[in-house]
Amino acid sequence: MRCANCGHEGNPGASYCARCGQPLQATSPSVAGGMARNQLMAGFAGRIGPYVLRGEIGRGAMARVWRAWDPRTSREVAVKEPLFSGEYPPQVIAEMERRFTSEGYMASRLQHPNVVTVFEAGTYDGRSVIVMELVNGITLGKLLERGPLEVGVATDILDQLIDAVSYAHFMGVVHRDIKPDNIFITRDGSVKLADFGIAHLVTTGMDDLQSGAVLGTPGYMSPEQATGGMVDERTDVFSLGVVAYEMVSGQNPLGAHSGLDFQTMVWRTVNQPIPALAVPALPPSMARAIMCALEKDPNRRPQSVKAFKTMLHGVTRVPSTGSRSASIEKVMSGKDERTKVDLSQSWLIYLVIGLGGLVMILLLLVVACM
Ligand SMILES: Nc1ncnc2c1ncn2[C@@H]1O[C@H](COP(=O)(O)OP(=O)(O)OP(=O)(O)O)[C@@H](O)[C@H]1O
Ligand SMILES: [Mg+2]
Repeated sequence: MRCANCGHEGNPGASYCARCGQPLQATSPSVAGGMARNQLMAGFAGRIGPYVLRGEIGRGAMARVWRAWDPRTSREVAVKEPLFSGEYPPQVIAEMERRFTSEGYMASRLQHPNVVTVFEAGTYDGRSVIVMELVNGITLGKLLERGPLEVGVATDILDQLIDAVSYAHFMGVVHRDIKPDNIFITRDGSVKLADFGIAHLVTTGMDDLQSGAVLGTPGYMSPEQATGGMVDERTDVFSLGVVAYEMVSGQNPLGAHSGLDFQTMVWRTVNQPIPALAVPALPPSMARAIMCALEKDPNRRPQSVKAFKTMLHGVTRVPSTGSRSASIEKVMSGKDERTKVDLSQSWLIYLVIGLGGLVMILLLLVVACM
């Protein structure tokens, strides 16, 4: 059946256009007249299977993400679908879409407070989708557009990221595309990492099928990943190092965002020394850990994200500006004043009151015995 909206020739039994998502029957003049069709489309961007699309959230290099409504669970979700069409031969697209959903399925096994939950991966009317938790917040990428973060805030974010990645590694999943645009900060200061496994899938899919294709995100991927070598969890250690460097200094250590072409970025990733971190407030242990994570040779990096975390904190923990999420919340809300009670001080007050009470009781006992 031909779509009246975009002209795409879809499967005979399909209800929705596989290319643009518009309902096939409803767009046919024989079924809906002009007026009725407009009403049907108002505030409605189409449907994929059971999901009612409510508008596009955004697009990346390989996919677009819809805000959608799941009537079965009465909740809003994010629906991601690949945008491979047109650039590759049909058999390449079919294989990449198959891998997209199978990797989405793998990501759906990950259940962690710092990982964006994947509810479902599947195909409806020929459209492959990954259905995720809809995150309300902003990406770290957007947050960093305002400039570098306070060391305490950066540490809080990094700790939560490390928890997510460490859990994923334990589950046998290497992310391969850790970057600020895949990291969300919610309003309550929680950090959520998105797109687990998807980069791997896209990479492998294109790698197998199209030589010379993109292998990840230049400026964030490790030298071994950028050159198509074998990668393991240490590639995520490198990317975490890049993110950490960017958070505390406001600069990408490899010059991402400078509009350089892919080959130049690969060359820089492999050959260009990382500029020393010049952030006065940064504890030396943290600076050392970040620089160590950015070693070109994976054998010279911390060998796991947990080892990276230990190195980051050194002997003494980095002093945070407040309790864990309070400091991130402050950044999210733009407030300068701390509104939360400092629990460590409360404990001290209770201790003093308790000891005072004990002394009073002892004094009373002494007086009573006299
Ligand atoms: N679960 C989600 N909840 C809310 N917004 C999301 C969710 N997943 C992705 N987005 C947003 O949708 C947009 C597209 O995301 P997508 O992952 O396709 O691209 P990207 O991460 O920006 O870039 P790339 O293609 O390089 O990965 C981005 O603005 C992203 O912030
Ligand atoms: Mg993404």
